Amino acid sequence: MASKRGALIVLEGVDRAGKTTQCKKLVQALQASGRPAEMMRFPDRTTTIGQLISAYLEKKSDLEDHTVHLLFSANRWELVPLMKQQLDRGITLVVDRYAFSGVAFTSAKPGFCMDWCMKPDVGLPKPDLVMFLQLNPAEAALRGQFGSERYETSAFQKSVQQKFKQLMKDPSVNWKVIDASKNVDDVHDDIKHHSLNAISAAENTPLGELWK
Ligand code: TMP
Repeated sequence: MASKRGALIVLEGVDRAGKTTQCKKLVQALQASGRPAEMMRFPDRTTTIGQLISAYLEKKSDLEDHTVHLLFSANRWELVPLMKQQLDRGITLVVDRYAFSGVAFTSAKPGFCMDWCMKPDVGLPKPDLVMFLQLNPAEAALRGQFGSERYETSAFQKSVQQKFKQLMKDPSVNWKVIDASKNVDDVHDDIKHHSLNAISAAENTPLGELWK
């Protein structure tokens, strides 16, 4: 008999909202309760495409804006066979950023509309749950300085946040907004609660296709 599939769970949010910390804590908690789970992150900088993206983010190379957008999308598509294989095996995937970051960051650049930005990611495995870690800019500022990578300025991050807000209006995606200003353990409890519900629901529903 085929085993129940794992859930595809994505964490998105503004910089310094604690996405990576929370992804790790969620995977640990799921594993500790006997639920197979693994973490992934996008961009995955380990692949050949990921290395091009990484050099661009570190400002070691320049890439034309459409080109880098398509590379970010290609970096997701190249991991799709592995993602499907793991979900089929009953492993829940906890993903740090996904297509929503792709659209929010590129469409915050001049001359890009959201519709064009969404197109390359149409048909990707659809997350069963997308949690947006919400933190207002003042609170984010208290958590320290931005790093030195591309996009790490408060003006750009503000536009990105507006784009995320628009994406969250889409009822075809199971969005949950998480108050990331709470302490790490309380945020984790909220995330775990939503994740357990999503894992149960995913067992009885086929994996969907994003924005299709
Ligand atoms: P991170 O590795 O620290 O999460 O940073 C990745 C950077 O790349 C971050 O600024 C968000 C940006 N990004 C895009 O522009 N498009 C994408 O598709 C993804 C996944 C991230």
